[in-house]
Order: sequence, then structure tokens, then C-alpha cells
Amino acid sequence: MSEAATPPGSGTERGAVPGSVFPPGFDPTAESAEKTLCFRGFWAWAVLILLIAICVSVFMWLLRKCIQGPAYRKANRIDGKVVIVTGCNTGIGKETVLELAKRGARVYMACRDAGRCEAARLEIMDRSHNQQLFNRTLDLGSLQSVRNFVERFKAEESRLDLLINNAGIMACPRTLTTDGYEQQFGVNHLGHFLLTNLLLDRLKQSSPSRIVVVSSAAHLFGRINREDLMSEKKYGKFFGAYSQSKLANILFTRKLSTILKDSRVTVNCCHPGVVRTELNRHFAGPGWMKSVLQTGSLYFFKTPKAGAQTSLRLALDPGLEGSTGGYYSDCMRWPLVPWARNMETADWLWRESEKLVGLPPIEPPPSNQNQNPTQNSNGTQNGGAANGTREMQSVETVVVNRS
Ligand SMILES: NC(=O)c1ccc[n+]([C@@H]2O[C@H](COP(=O)([O-])OP(=O)(O)OC[C@H]3O[C@@H](n4cnc5c(N)ncnc54)[C@H](OP(=O)(O)O)[C@@H]3O)[C@@H](O)[C@H]2O)c1
Repeated sequence: MSEAATPPGSGTERGAVPGSVFPPGFDPTAESAEKTLCFRGFWAWAVLILLIAICVSVFMWLLRKCIQGPAYRKANRIDGKVVIVTGCNTGIGKETVLELAKRGARVYMACRDAGRCEAARLEIMDRSHNQQLFNRTLDLGSLQSVRNFVERFKAEESRLDLLINNAGIMACPRTLTTDGYEQQFGVNHLGHFLLTNLLLDRLKQSSPSRIVVVSSAAHLFGRINREDLMSEKKYGKFFGAYSQSKLANILFTRKLSTILKDSRVTVNCCHPGVVRTELNRHFAGPGWMKSVLQTGSLYFFKTPKAGAQTSLRLALDPGLEGSTGGYYSDCMRWPLVPWARNMETADWLWRESEKLVGLPPIEPPPSNQNQNPTQNSNGTQNGGAANGTREMQSVETVVVNRS
């Protein structure tokens, strides 16, 4: 029979179900199946998206936790212990002081800007309910300022239980300290070198006592440039001068730990992590890069509180009593690369630093050592010529203090 001869609705058209009331080509079972499929598809997608969102959030949360690193969790208090923290009006130093203050310490906040220090001091007093916080001026870029700070501190306190060399400056344009030394080497290493040496007698008297040196993983890029310590011939902001100064922090720690052997004064150094602070204030990249860095750092950098945890462990952990000369990061001790544990370089740097800051040698110099005084970048003799007689008088005092 031809198609044209088939009466409509007879149910015998192509695709029609014989005897069905539905129009030809319409399959009610198929439509409901399609509808069900659509219904299922929506929920399947919703559930899938929800699961992906949960997984991503958990991953981001875990990653953030990993970035923040471990925290120092022991609850030990240090009521009445006398502490000095350098560069603590902001960043890692400020968080360190806050935690020490909460644990009852008597903290001398050694900062170069008295106004900013006072603001931080008032805030920390408020948050810690500890009134034993003192605002003291210390500019590590001036050896005289270091001496003045120590003189005042010693007049005020007969003991020192904990010294935290935290202050630092990174990747600034090449400038000189008051004494004519390259700024990063001068502030990060030489200022702290003199400060620590002038305070050693107090630390020994108060033993067991501790010194914490805040260095950086940037030391991995650093080399002690014996021919150009002050980067006069070639200046690299980060990979040159900053990295060298942070390597110097570690070599200083290593050498000092041998000098202080048997004294019950320990000295350890640390890398705080990559922390969102004002340290990158000298970053000179384009504006968009600054914005990207600022935004990215909100997630990918440690908070200053997290950055303070390794310093706090080194300062507080009773389990580290007697442990000295170590390099820590994320609250754990790490092995050092060969150039950071080279004792020959550490010895050389120590002797050189003594000359640069005007301290008498703590150890007899090796017989083949060149006895000529080092010259600073101004061409003047270091270690006192810039300050004349007053410096020499201070050296006399130092001899007494360090004996
Ligand atoms: N942030 C990081 O990612 C990171 C990584 C590795 C190591 N570190 C080390 O951590 C330490 C603390 O740095 P931060 O991140 O907390 O930086 P920050 O926020 O810039 O704090 C640095 C502190 O050092 C002070 N300072 C700078 N020059 C000084 C001077 N001449 N005399 C006395 N104080 C001076 C600053 O005082 P002003 O406010 O007056 O300038 C400030 O209080 C530094 O030693 C740094 O090298 C930091």
C-alpha cells in the first residue's frame, strides 16, 4: 500500500505505533526518558561542581597551611626574663615581641625610628597586657648609635637573657652607613656584630642565655667577596649585597657558637620563610608588578605571625637548651651548604668585622695574617678613625666588657 493512501491517524504511518492515540513520530516513553535525563544531568552537574569547589577549597586551605609552616606551640612562660629585639616596630620583629610579651618577658624594643617604635609598643602593651616594654633607639647603620644603645641598656639592666638580632634591610639602592660601609652589609651584619659583642658580658652573666640571628635562605646565593666586601666595584642589590649579608649572619653564628663553647650562651640562626612584611619596600619594579606581588603575597606569603615562629622556637623552646650553632627554618634544624659552614671564611669574616667596627681581636690572629687595618670605602682607616678618640675609648670599654 502507498503512503498517500494511508488515512491519517490510522496508526499505520511510518514511525507511528499501531493503534496509538499519539501523533506519528511521537514516542511518549522517549520524551519522559529525555526529561529524566535532563533532570539527572542538572543535579549531576551541580553535585560535580560542588565537589570540585570543595576539593579546590580543601587543597587551597592545605596549601595555605603548608605555606604558613608549623607554629611554636609550647606554652612555657619567660616571666621577668630580659630580652632585646632589634627592628621590632613592624613585621616579624613586632610579632616576636608580641608573643614574648604575652609570655611575661621584659622587652627592650631596639628600633631606629622612635615614633614608629612607640606606636608598636603601645599596641603590643594593649594586646599583651604586659607593661614591661621599653622603647629604645638603635640605628644599626651607625656604630656610635649601637654603642649608645648598649651604654644605656647596661646602665638600666644588669642581665640579658635573650638577644634577637632581627632588624634587616633588603635590596636597597647602594648607599653607605654613617661609618661609610655598604648599607646592607653594615646594617644586617656589622651593626649586629658590634651589638652582640658589646652585650656578650651581660649574656654570659645571665647564662643560660640565648642569641637568635634572623638570617635568610638568600644566603644560598651569597658569597663573601673578600676583594670587594663593600660592593664598591660591583653592586647587586639582592643576589650580591643582601645575600652576602645574610650569609655573613650565618658565618657569624657559626663562629660565635665556637667562641661561646662552654659558656652556656647559645646562638642559632634562622630563615623565617617568605613573609608579607615591609622588607620589600625598596622593590623598584613597575607598578603593575608591585600590585601583582602585593595581591599574590596575601595568599602565597607567610603572615608576620607565622614568620616569627622559628625565631620564637629558638628563643623559647626548653628542648633547645644547650643546642647551638644551628640553622633553622620552619622550626626545624637544616643542614647548611658548604659555603655557609666554611670555618676558614667564618674566621676571616670575624677578624675583618672586628677591624671594621673597631673591636680588639677576641682571638690571637693567625701568624700569616695581614695586620694592616682595613680601609673603608671613604678611604679612612676603619674601626675608629672615623670617630677618632671616642671610638678608641669605647674599645677600651669593650676590652673590659668582653673579658
Ligand atoms: N620578610 C621576609 O620574607 C624575610 C625573608 C627572609 C629573611 N627575612 C629577615 O627577617 C628580618 C625581619 O624582616 P621583616 O621581614 O620583618 O622586614 P621589615 O618589616 O622591613 O622589618 C625590618 C625591621 O628592621 C628595621 N631596620 C631596618 N634598618 C634598620 C637600622 N638601620 N637600624 C635599626 N633597625 C633597622 C626596620 O625599621 P624601620 O621600620 O624603621 O625601617 C624594621 O623594624 C630581616 O633580618 C630580614 O632580612 C625576612
